[in-house]
Amino acid sequence: MTAAAAATLEVRGLTKEFGRRPPVRAVDDVSFALRPGTITGLVGESGSGKSTVARLLSRLYSPSGGSILFGGEDVSRTALRRYRSEVQMIFQDPFASLNPVKKVQHHLERPLRIHGIASRGDVDAVVHDLLRTVGLVPPATIAQKYPHQLSGGQRQRVAIARALAVKPSVVLADEPISMLDVSIRIGLLNLMADLKKDLGIAFLYITHDIASARYIADEVLVMYAGRIVEQGPTDDVLQDPLHAYTKLLLSAVPSPEPGGHRELLVRARRPSTDGELVEARPGHFVRQPTT
Ligand SMILES: Nc1ncnc2c1ncn2[C@@H]1O[C@H](COP(=O)(O)OP(=O)(O)OP(=O)(O)O)[C@@H](O)[C@H]1O
Ligand SMILES: [Mg+2]
Repeated sequence: MTAAAAATLEVRGLTKEFGRRPPVRAVDDVSFALRPGTITGLVGESGSGKSTVARLLSRLYSPSGGSILFGGEDVSRTALRRYRSEVQMIFQDPFASLNPVKKVQHHLERPLRIHGIASRGDVDAVVHDLLRTVGLVPPATIAQKYPHQLSGGQRQRVAIARALAVKPSVVLADEPISMLDVSIRIGLLNLMADLKKDLGIAFLYITHDIASARYIADEVLVMYAGRIVEQGPTDDVLQDPLHAYTKLLLSAVPSPEPGGHRELLVRARRPSTDGELVEARPGHFVRQPTT
């Protein structure tokens, strides 16, 4: 997707503070756009503010400053239910996000009913279609299983199917593979890549596994201490990083395979987050010291 494609979801100057005296600025003046058929990777170490961005975008938190635009409209004026039918979220722990006493069928039927998507007569067909879309076959058998009867990867596929039930245009995936076996992570990444291509979904893929972002993300946002320090096309940013923090992240990744080793950051010298984001190369922005 080119940078010229219309953004589905856009944030401008997004800021979130927690507490008082002094407040913690978990997200500090963050701006980016999620485009149809594009996976945007949001990478950064633990505590950099990635999940807070996802919670702001899903409207679980309200921003302390800045705005979120969906299709060009400020979402603070959109009813939450309508917003949720466009912007869905997938969480890290598929077990925690599924009700243990309810079958797969229930998890997929619920959003269809709440959002009035399928009529009583064709609920089963829609549920089976959703299961096939996420690679869970045979769907009639899977639909009758309880979460504990599925593998971690299958449970995460159910969570994805549930997100897709409302036909969203944006899916926010916060560390969706980090709790899964290394051997099945790649299958989930490939599923997300298929969904972006086949359904035109705009994904925000949050991870601290930079190798997995390199594998599926078209664009990457590098977040550090609440700020985006570098952003642009994945290949450009990760092959030729310009910000000291991005270089540090990459130098700490020993393996290029998705789901490989986690980065071990050297804490001794912390790069600066000062300065403005400037376009160093086409579409590739880096935060530069002002002096
Ligand atoms: N509800 C909250 N109340 C107070 N502080 C919070 C809250 N949520 C997050 N924070 C703080 O905001 C900062 C960013 O947290 P966040 O969870 O967004 O980081 P993250 O990048 O998702 O980290 P991880 O990789 O560990 O998931 C941290 O300093 C965290 O302690
Ligand atoms: Mg997080």
